[in-house]
Amino acid sequence: MSDDAIESVLQETRSFPPPEAFAAEAHISSEDQYQQMWERAKDDPEGFWGELATENLDWFKEYDSVLEGAMPDTKWFVGGKLNVTHNCLDRHLTNWRKNKAAIIWEGEPGDTRVLRYQDLHREVCRFANVLKQFDIGPGDRVTLYMPMIPELAIAMLACARIGAVHSIIFGGFSADAVAERNNDAQAKLVVTADAGWRRGKELPLKAAVDASLEKSPTVEKVVVVRRTGLEVEMVPDRDYWWDDLMATASTECEATPLDSEHPLFILYTSGSTGKPKGVLHTTAGYLLGTTMTSRWVFDLKEDDTYWCTADIGWITGHSYIVYGPLANGATTVMYEGAPNYPDEGRFWNIVEKFGVNIFYTAPTAIRAFIKWGDDWPGQADLSSLRLLGTVGEPINPEAWMWYHRVIGGERCPIVDTWWQTETGGIMISPLPGVTVTKPGSCTRPLPGVVPDIVTKDGKSLEDNKGGLLVMRQPWPSMLRTLHGDHDRFLETYFSEIPGAYFAGDGARRDEDGCYWVMGRVDDVLNVAGHRLSTMEIESALVSHQNVAEAAVVGFPHDLKGEGICCFVTTTDGGESEELKAELIAHVRQQIGAIATPDQIRFAAAVPKTRSGKIMRRLLRDIAAGREEVGDTTTLEDYSVLSKLREEEE
Ligand code: WT7
Repeated sequence: MSDDAIESVLQETRSFPPPEAFAAEAHISSEDQYQQMWERAKDDPEGFWGELATENLDWFKEYDSVLEGAMPDTKWFVGGKLNVTHNCLDRHLTNWRKNKAAIIWEGEPGDTRVLRYQDLHREVCRFANVLKQFDIGPGDRVTLYMPMIPELAIAMLACARIGAVHSIIFGGFSADAVAERNNDAQAKLVVTADAGWRRGKELPLKAAVDASLEKSPTVEKVVVVRRTGLEVEMVPDRDYWWDDLMATASTECEATPLDSEHPLFILYTSGSTGKPKGVLHTTAGYLLGTTMTSRWVFDLKEDDTYWCTADIGWITGHSYIVYGPLANGATTVMYEGAPNYPDEGRFWNIVEKFGVNIFYTAPTAIRAFIKWGDDWPGQADLSSLRLLGTVGEPINPEAWMWYHRVIGGERCPIVDTWWQTETGGIMISPLPGVTVTKPGSCTRPLPGVVPDIVTKDGKSLEDNKGGLLVMRQPWPSMLRTLHGDHDRFLETYFSEIPGAYFAGDGARRDEDGCYWVMGRVDDVLNVAGHRLSTMEIESALVSHQNVAEAAVVGFPHDLKGEGICCFVTTTDGGESEELKAELIAHVRQQIGAIATPDQIRFAAAVPKTRSGKIMRRLLRDIAAGREEVGDTTTLEDYSVLSKLREEEE
């Protein structure tokens, strides 16, 4: 035990100042500049954000006030009118950027497409007209259940152009999950594709939409992109081919002037209860947040080729493949498929092929790269890279070091970016030209972000004491509500620690003001950088006829960070390998491949406390098969975390 603790302490002492040449050219380039910005934003948030909004966004009508209200209910840039796509597209067409690549796309089979800003603008206008034709207008909800193809970006921007609210559902979710989200959002239209490519296989999306529509009656129309050529059923007067509609649609469509607080999108994320939460983001604040953080954190420059490997089905793709980069007039790379198809060198080929300068991925992917071996990146020319990023979960210091050495050639700063679906944009992260980075720490808050570490009673803790991570001040890109359930919004984020936004993470701050996030303190798993609720998986299991009771916990998993372990009590005591397989398939059908259990363990009874609470800590220890911890967290962090998670009898 003590050896481990000492080693962890040693790891923490490694630190990496930004290379001088990088700092000299960076948007934010000195500690003084950062300090000044941070203090100004803290003391005068309205002045700070107001100036940025005026300088960096195009307004159809200037706002009257920067901020109205206080947490939890805030309104930003009240009275202003703007359109996100005007800011992401139109304003770049008045200068040489019109012929700059907006999206460089590569399909899994190796096909590529480049959409220049004016191409993307035309396609977005076309599809906006298609939506209008189907009577989609401001405030209407549109579900996008699509592969990583340019049409996904086009469809989301087309919604934004006319004020329709997109709800993107990751392709790894099942038909049932799509139906649940369609219903919650009361979606009128779904955009999908015949299928998407995944490791050479076709992921049948249209078929899943068909199944979902049996349970989600609000959907009137379905638009289908032909991607793989998979044969699909087309229901007359309901289903339409994208190409047919686009062929006759006009390329002109004025961007609708929308209120600053007009809803931009809903994105569902798992919470500690069974029902997914529809996180709602609005127009101006979200756009300003993603615009500024893209520039500050990724140091986006005019000639950069920037690649974020996330799927647009997650918030990372919304904010840092589409909205943030395009608002900055950047070139954003989009890749459809798996990192190991046709071989484990695929990502590095893409970096070499397009001369990627900025590369943003997740720790779970980095752990897979490490496992696949240094030869793959070694075979490609990665010298174009100048900055690396990670997001999704705490990164193990050893994975950080590998990323730094093997991918970054020891010359690229690494930005470990902490944020959430709810925060809309990056909150705590190094500034690559300023911050001395430490492997495993997301370092310090960005300007406008005022975090704190508190006890369960909301008392601020001193440095190096583990506690709950909260935000003391509102920020423009924060969620405004949970769609259709404002009470749950208040309850989830603002009731735990009165007056503050509670992130759900445990963390500590060190003596240099750097934050070390330990993980979730609620019943939310972080599987491969994606949130899954234990309760959601438990409900899925219990809905199987042979299951009497289920308890789901996470356990340390080499690649995924957390694996899913299900303790199951059967109705008749029957236990078999067949039933295990059936239960795994059942969870996949209910939630999707993303929630595939790693372990099913039959138990005579689920252990409970006298008051009837599942003894999760005990189950976690059993699932992990040991008491020791992985290298993600220090032992100290681990014990704090388990204390924070729940007080068990
Ligand atoms: C949760 C948010 C934000 C896009 C991806 C995930 C964890 C995220 C980090 C990081 C430590 C991190 C937190 C957070 N998380 N980034 N750099 N270091 N933990 O979005 O699905 O909304 O999940 O992911 O636990 O609360 P999400």
